[in-house]
Order: sequence, then C-alpha cells, then structure tokens
Amino acid sequence: MNHKQNKGMTKSVTWQNFQQHYLDLPELGMALDTSRMNVPDKLPNELEMLFRNAFQQMQNLEKGGIANPDENRMVGHYWLRNPELAPSTDIQTVISSTLEKIQNFVAEIHRNKIQPQKAASFRNVLLLGIGGSALGPQFVLSALCSGTDRMRFYFLDNTDPDGIDQVIASIGKGLGETLTLVISKSGGTKETRNAMLEVRDVYEKNGLDFTKHAVAVTGANSQLDQLAAQENWLDRFPMWDWVGGRTSVFSAVGLLPAALQGLNIYEFIAGAKTMDEITRSPEVSNNPAALLAWMWHHAGRGQGEKAMVLLPYKDRLLLFSRYLQQLVMESIGKEKDLVGKKVNQGLTVYGNKGSTDQHAFVQQLRDGTADFFVTFIEVLKDSETGSLEVEPGITSGDFLHGFLLGTREALFQNGRASLTITLEEINTQTLGALIALFERAVGLYASLVGINAYHQPGVEAGKQAAGDVLELAVKIQHHLRSHPEQKFTATELADILRKTKNTETVFQLLLHLAANGRVQKFDASSPFSACFQAI
Ligand code: PA5
Repeated sequence: MNHKQNKGMTKSVTWQNFQQHYLDLPELGMALDTSRMNVPDKLPNELEMLFRNAFQQMQNLEKGGIANPDENRMVGHYWLRNPELAPSTDIQTVISSTLEKIQNFVAEIHRNKIQPQKAASFRNVLLLGIGGSALGPQFVLSALCSGTDRMRFYFLDNTDPDGIDQVIASIGKGLGETLTLVISKSGGTKETRNAMLEVRDVYEKNGLDFTKHAVAVTGANSQLDQLAAQENWLDRFPMWDWVGGRTSVFSAVGLLPAALQGLNIYEFIAGAKTMDEITRSPEVSNNPAALLAWMWHHAGRGQGEKAMVLLPYKDRLLLFSRYLQQLVMESIGKEKDLVGKKVNQGLTVYGNKGSTDQHAFVQQLRDGTADFFVTFIEVLKDSETGSLEVEPGITSGDFLHGFLLGTREALFQNGRASLTITLEEINTQTLGALIALFERAVGLYASLVGINAYHQPGVEAGKQAAGDVLELAVKIQHHLRSHPEQKFTATELADILRKTKNTETVFQLLLHLAANGRVQKFDASSPFSACFQAI
C-alpha cells in the first residue's frame, strides 16, 4: 500500500473492528491488537498455504530437524524452556544440569562461598560479550533492574579502547570485588577476546589475578574454553551449537547474569514456556507470533518494504529495540533464500521509546515518508510506587499512557499503520514471554519468505574483511620499521606491498597509526601526498 493510498484512509477503528483484531492472552497478562494494521478480517488464501508450511517447518525444528541447513545444525532454543521437548536425553540432561549449575554457582557467589582474591565478596559483574552474547543480558538487566538487585553490572561489548577505559574507570576501586563473565559461543570473537585481554591487564596492574575473578560461558573446546580450563578460572558454563547467539538468552548466556542480578530465572523461563505453548497453535488468529509474522508480511508485502519502528512507552524497555534489531535483522536480513535464489530479504527495525521520541523522530513518522509501521508496547501498570497526580485527576503515568493512545491515533489518522502489544506489567514472566513471542515470530516469518533465519553469513564476511585489513596494518608497520630512515606516501607503500588496489585502505591505516602516535606523519600540500615514517 503506497503513501497516496494511505492518505485517503482517515477512518477510525470501530469498536467492533478493534474487538475482532484484539487477541487477549490472560494467562500471561498480555494482549495483541492488530486493528490498526489494515489487514482483512480473515487470513488471505495465499498466506494460508505459506503458514501451513511455516508451522510444519517449526514442528520439524522443534523435533530436532536440521533447521539451519547452511551450518548443518539443529535449532534448539525452545528446548531451553522445556527440556522434555529436546530430541535426545543427552540434550535434556545438559539443559537441566546447566540450570542447576547456574543456581549453585550463583548461590555460592551471593553467600560469599566463592570469594574474590583479595576481598570478602563479589559485588559487581563485568560482562564481556558482543551481539547475541551481550544484548540479551543487557536488555534483561535494564528491563528488570531494581533497588534489590544483588550485584551491580557493567558491560563491555566492543573493542573500543576509549569505551573500555570509561567502564574500567566507572568500576574504579571496585575491581577487586568484580566478577568478570566472558561470554562467547564461538570463543574466538575478537571484540570479546580484546576486551578480555584489556580487562585482564587492568586486574594485573592492580595486583589482582584475573583468573580468580573470571568465568567463561562458551562452547566446549573453544579457544576461550581451553584457556579457562588451562588457567583454572572460577568456573565454565556451556554453550551449544544448537543454540544461536541471538536466541541464547535462555541459556547460560542470559540466565547466569540474570541469576547473579537476583532475578527468578525460573519465572523468566516459565513466561517463555507459556508463550511457546500458545505460539505452537496452528490457528493464526489465536497465535500471537503468527499474527506478528502476518503483520510483517502484510506491511512489507513479504519483501521488507516497510521498517518496523518499535515504540515501547516505558523507559525499562528502551533496549528492546536494540535487542530486536539484532534478533530480527540478523535473522531475516539474508541475500539468498533456502534454495539459493538471490532475494535480499530483510526487515528493518529501529526505535527507542515513547513519549521521548514524540519530541524527535515521531514528527517524521506522522508527516514524512510512510516507509514504516509501528509496534507500540503499552504497559498498564505505571510503577511499583504509584504515580504522582500532576494535574487534577491526572498522573504522570496517565500522561504517558495518553501520549501512546494519542500518538497511535494521530498516526492512524494519517494513514500510518501500527500494532500494539499490551503488558499488564513488566516482570520476569512477561519479559520471558515477550522475548519468546518475537523469537517465534521471526522463525515463522522466515518460513513465509523462505529464508534460513538461523545463520549469519554477512557477519562472517565482515570478520574476514577486517582480518585482511589488520594483516595489511601489520605489513605496513613492519615495512616502516625495517626502513626507519625513510618516509613513504600511502601510494608508495601500497605499491611496495603490492596492494595498489587497496591504496585507500593503506592511507586510512596510516592516518590511524599516526593519530595514535605509532608512526610519524609529515603533512604535504595535499592530504594524499603526506609522508609517513616509523617512530
Ligand atoms: O547472533 C549471533 O550469532 C551473533 O550476533 C553472535 O552472538 C555474535 O557474533 C557473538 O558471537 P560469539 O558468541 O561467538 O562471540
């Protein structure tokens, strides 16, 4: 549906229409309203077949079929909340025993049975990881943090030295009471490895043995696993090849930090399990994940033509758009479909929170390019402490709620579609359910558009390209150091190193080395004729 068509449609949603498109999920204190998505009341015939196939694929996946054919892997995140579904007793056992191990380890940390090298108790957690190995814990922590949290959390999810300095500075004297979790499924991700080396260096400079403060969450026998075993770190928790990074929040990746924070991880799992049961229904109209997949398909005509803007009206859910951005875009953004045809699929996700963004990008949403649909998240319970009456009969929470309803209507009146997920409140159970809802929606949508949601060839390509660049950086420095008296331009160096096709990269690398005092730069009349020399 294009912008012009949309513009003509200024009718409101009728009470009857609303009821027809409102799915109540009382067992979870949730609801899904799709009445502002302009979909027909009944699933179109052409989608019926696609959904039948999607449900069949999902069933095979849950039974342990190879749902990630490119990597020849099973996809088992649903088993994490119901181990009985796992296809072998081995898998059932490792899921249950890992959960038990998490509980025992965390109890020992909280009771000071496991202590830091030179302090009485661990008070802080520093989590090192990236992508699926960081976003889940970051989101869960920020959504459920409270004054009763057992430990204070810090995160390093990059290889940015300045970012690392900032986090280390904020930990300050607390380093000796800091438990460092190094999380990497592959155990070889450079950002996480670099953060670990930097953090280790800081512990050592403070007279502390890093290994006495470190825990690894990683695949068996990965580089990280081997290191942690050799050095006898405090503990090691497993990751499995049948759990993808971006769906790993119910493995030790998410559960260990959540338990350290003091959350009831069993409630978190139970919320997801209930949502899993609901979203197994082959009846699209009763299945909130299938409804989401239908809405995404409808909005973007199965080609991702419209972005999904996520607007939770709740500060606690601020990171949900980042979490979903990864879950959806890394899963759906694929060049080829399952039979190898070039399709360039995707579903763009961005967002922040309301009502804050009504003072920012919502202006464009209402009046500008109609290249999106909105997913509103409404949380009915305002806060644990109640909300101040700021005007007669009206609280701050009423304002927040009113802004959501008002903005949604203003957008709809201007032909902008939206759907709304309502949560009675945010708690461990509803958060687990919310995550599980989107995991299933992503899986179903991927089947509708015929792609593999569970691999990430683009991420691998980026890692490879960066590796080539770093190799060139080493060669440049080596050459400059072996000719200490000489100055070279980028063009000369590219020529010498037989990298004339990469002259720009050589130039960029030289600028970076010079800015960090690792080579000397001699300016010339043009930036491209600048010369560089070893220091
Ligand atoms: O979802 C994914 O697979 C990725 O985002 C990974 O989580 C990310 O690349 C980090 O990988 P690893 O956990 O192996 O360090």
